[in-house]
Amino acid sequence: MITEPALKADKLVKLFPGVRALDGASLRVEPGSVHALLGENGAGKSTLIKILTGVYTPDGGSLEVSGHPVALDSPQAAARAGVGVVHQERNLVPEFSVAENIMLQRLPVKGGLLDRGSVRREAQRYLDLLELDVDPDRRVRGLSVSQLQLIEVAKALSMDSKVLLLDEPTTASTPSEVERLFGVIRKLREGGTAILFVSHKLEEVYDLCDTVTVLRDGVSVLESVPLSELHRPELITAMVGREHSALELPARPRFEPDPILELDEVGTAYGHHGVSLSLRKGEILGLYGLVGAGRTELAKSLLGLSAITEGEVRVRGRAVRIRDVRDALRRHRIGYVPEDRKGEGLFLEQPVTRNIAVAVWDRIGRRVGGVSAKRERALAEDYVERLGIRLSSSNQLVGRLSGGNQQKVSLAKWLAAETEILIIDEPTVGIDVRTKAAFHELISTLAADGLAVLLITSDLVEMVTLADRILVMRDFHVCGEVENDREYGPTSRRVMGLIHADEPVA
Ligand SMILES: Nc1ncnc2c1ncn2[C@@H]1O[C@H](COP(=O)(O)OP(=O)(O)OP(=O)(O)O)[C@@H](O)[C@H]1O
Ligand SMILES: [Mg+2]
Repeated sequence: MITEPALKADKLVKLFPGVRALDGASLRVEPGSVHALLGENGAGKSTLIKILTGVYTPDGGSLEVSGHPVALDSPQAAARAGVGVVHQERNLVPEFSVAENIMLQRLPVKGGLLDRGSVRREAQRYLDLLELDVDPDRRVRGLSVSQLQLIEVAKALSMDSKVLLLDEPTTASTPSEVERLFGVIRKLREGGTAILFVSHKLEEVYDLCDTVTVLRDGVSVLESVPLSELHRPELITAMVGREHSALELPARPRFEPDPILELDEVGTAYGHHGVSLSLRKGEILGLYGLVGAGRTELAKSLLGLSAITEGEVRVRGRAVRIRDVRDALRRHRIGYVPEDRKGEGLFLEQPVTRNIAVAVWDRIGRRVGGVSAKRERALAEDYVERLGIRLSSSNQLVGRLSGGNQQKVSLAKWLAAETEILIIDEPTVGIDVRTKAAFHELISTLAADGLAVLLITSDLVEMVTLADRILVMRDFHVCGEVENDREYGPTSRRVMGLIHADEPVA
């Protein structure tokens, strides 16, 4: 018996002003399989997913679900056809509880009223499936990006779809969270669900997926090929369009002995206790830990976004109180690239140039008495070039860029700001292979020139590639430190050993 593909897209076309986002994208996903959808930032992956879920109407091409032609002209129509989705952008209602968000599309009603007990119970089932430890009754506002992502996955699972589309669901997750999610996906596969998985992490793709489609400039350059027939270099060549070679990171001179940033037994309103660290010019200090360990919260407290309740922060040897991000930059030359760049880092309704220039506004403004549009553009263009940001024009609004390209703008903005201390939270989340390498090179070069970097990343490969030392955090305190010998295996084992040690470290 020949089975029909669970999902078939044929020669899809989607036009936006100035861009052909899709220009002949095709793929087929069989029931009971996991299909990877790959491509560089801006290749058209999310656009394709939005067509498959009725968010966008295609300008050409056709769709079939289980052998039947369908017109998915609304998200509801897609849900009825059995297509569930986790979009790349978060879609939760901040003021609703975790349980309500998970059950939003099918809230159970009893006697005309919302049946809260069963909302809780049902939601808890999906939280358990993902071993996600959050209170179903708490509001979604204030949860971390990784928790939000997993809640969206729980919500998609609750739909019991025949086809499940996951657009970069693991960008903010730690290895053990990813493993749990993959366990769930494998079970769904055994049960016959067809899964489409978008990721920039090729290790994950090889670990999980059966077949692959690669998009380049909106076209399927590889279509539904078994992954076992493709080696990594071939896959990357298909994405990039030419051979891609690993970059050499520059050798870095020894750091200056005096620390430029010190934390001495710091406690915060978030609940940190006794956190000490020191960072020298030219050094890259990694901060690793599981989601919820308090890394992002530490960065935020340092930047004045929440209170420091005990201990001392010293910058260039002087005790300081930083008021906010602007104060950090102006008085101390500290830059902060936040984890939630969409929420905190960018002005979506402003052009790319303005976004990049905004952090340097003071500097340029002071020197030339007002920001000239020409300088703004020159500065932006340099970084657009270096990080390969894909624009249809330099006036393009950031909100219209692909997810990965938005990340790049946020990075560019801070790299351009001539800071002396840079705190970066999850820098390459959602960024494609080629740009990731370019970013690693850029950061190493800046460090070699004397930039002090505090790097928060859940990507252990990235951590081992970049960091000189790795501090490990657990439950809002530092539980150990690992000197990075840049060999992935041994270093990562020591880091993970610190995280999973059962005894609390005194
Ligand atoms: N609403 C929109 N308006 C205008 N252009 C858009 C819109 N959405 C996407 N685009 C453009 O379409 C192209 C494809 O974007 P898409 O988001 O599909 O890329 P992607 O492959 O998902 O990239 P990433 O890996 O960065 O998420 C990009 O050039 C993007 O700027
Ligand atoms: Mg995308």
